[in-house]
Amino acid sequence: MIETMEEKAIQEIKQLLQLVDQKLSSIPSSPMKHDLIHEIKQWSDEKKESESMEQVVNPYEVSAKDGGKIDYDKIVEKFGCKRVDQSLIDRVHRLTSRDPHVFLRRGVFFAHRDFNEILDSFERGDKFYLYTGRGPSSEALHLGHLIPFMFTKYLQEAFKVPVVIQLTDDEKFMWSKTLKVEDTKRLARENIKDIIACGFDVEKTFIFSNIEHAGTFYENTLKIGKCVTVNKANAIFGFAGEDPVGKMGFPPVQAAPSFASSFQHLFLGKDNNLRCLIPCAIDQDPYFRMTRDVAPRLDYSKPALIESKFLPSLKAMNGKMSASNPNSAIYVTDTTKDIKKKVNSAFSGGKDNSTEQENAGADLEVDIPFKYLSFFLDDDAELEHIKKEYGEGRMLSGPVKQRLTEVLTEVVEKHRKARAAVTDEMVNAFMAVRPLPKMFD
Ligand code: TRP
Repeated sequence: MIETMEEKAIQEIKQLLQLVDQKLSSIPSSPMKHDLIHEIKQWSDEKKESESMEQVVNPYEVSAKDGGKIDYDKIVEKFGCKRVDQSLIDRVHRLTSRDPHVFLRRGVFFAHRDFNEILDSFERGDKFYLYTGRGPSSEALHLGHLIPFMFTKYLQEAFKVPVVIQLTDDEKFMWSKTLKVEDTKRLARENIKDIIACGFDVEKTFIFSNIEHAGTFYENTLKIGKCVTVNKANAIFGFAGEDPVGKMGFPPVQAAPSFASSFQHLFLGKDNNLRCLIPCAIDQDPYFRMTRDVAPRLDYSKPALIESKFLPSLKAMNGKMSASNPNSAIYVTDTTKDIKKKVNSAFSGGKDNSTEQENAGADLEVDIPFKYLSFFLDDDAELEHIKKEYGEGRMLSGPVKQRLTEVLTEVVEKHRKARAAVTDEMVNAFMAVRPLPKMFD
């Protein structure tokens, strides 16, 4: 059963609240009624207060409890997904005959839904396709934004499968206070250049903007939309009465590319029920929980998921890199100088002076430079060495930051070069509605 206990409880509470509302309107106005309403308001304010201390992870907000760390065990438990374990990673190794990506080895992609089933059917010779996406809300991408794309590119190569990439310019328009349709459409094309720069193969990749390609998967958004009640959408996404009605209509749009029949030009005919694997950050899980719930009713297969942690902000472990605070994130447009400066001011778990550091060692649990190295330093032996030396106090924070600056500069430089080589014609080529005859080669 996909519906979590939590979603069920929320639906029940909503129904109770409707009942309260009905009862309330049956009582004529009086001081007693007034007091009652006041009491309800006080109760709700108190709840709001205590709730704001809790960890929040959903497509629209990510924040840890009391400014602490994100508790990923709790997310797995609450969402009802599974941990990626070593045996799954070993299977990927065996099936693809290549080293699993650093994001798999280090537990960045740490949770999944039915990924084992995708591997089972791949082992039997069945294919699948990959689906991921981006909401084009800003010009410049930071490293956190690149993680799903770097990983999807690796999966495309390792499994030799097609990729579809959704640019949700409609979503960003609907959620933004300032962006116009023309803005999000333009940002989509700019972001597509960064996505292409991650190395996707044009013969196996279809990139689409929801606004520009609206026709190609509209049928499925209708079918999905019809299966989801307003109560259910509210329980999953927490829409409020004063939200624009367009927000309600969006979840089916993000769900539709999970079904192969959305892409008639790619999968028409025997591949119409091809399974889908979605690499994404864990905050997108609610969309696909809804999608998986709807799938059997439409006679489609449920999409499988492989889900990542967030790259923490440079300033602390308590959330994801945020595009709104430029010093909390490394942008793909940053210069070596910018990177050096930001890394040097990152939150360190090292001790203030060398004597103390030598005695106590660094607290690697909170040390941001070490955390970043575990995301981006490919060499397992070197990472292990730093972990030991720095953690036990024989290495100071300076050289760790120095090494991270080198590693990140290399990642960013490589991206900058690749992005500069992406032309408008290439963007058009990736976005053309076309069959991909070599998509499984
Ligand atoms: N909603 C996502 C964002 O704001 C974009 C997105 C659309 C996506 N489809 C997806 C992300 C599929 C991961 C997988 O960034």
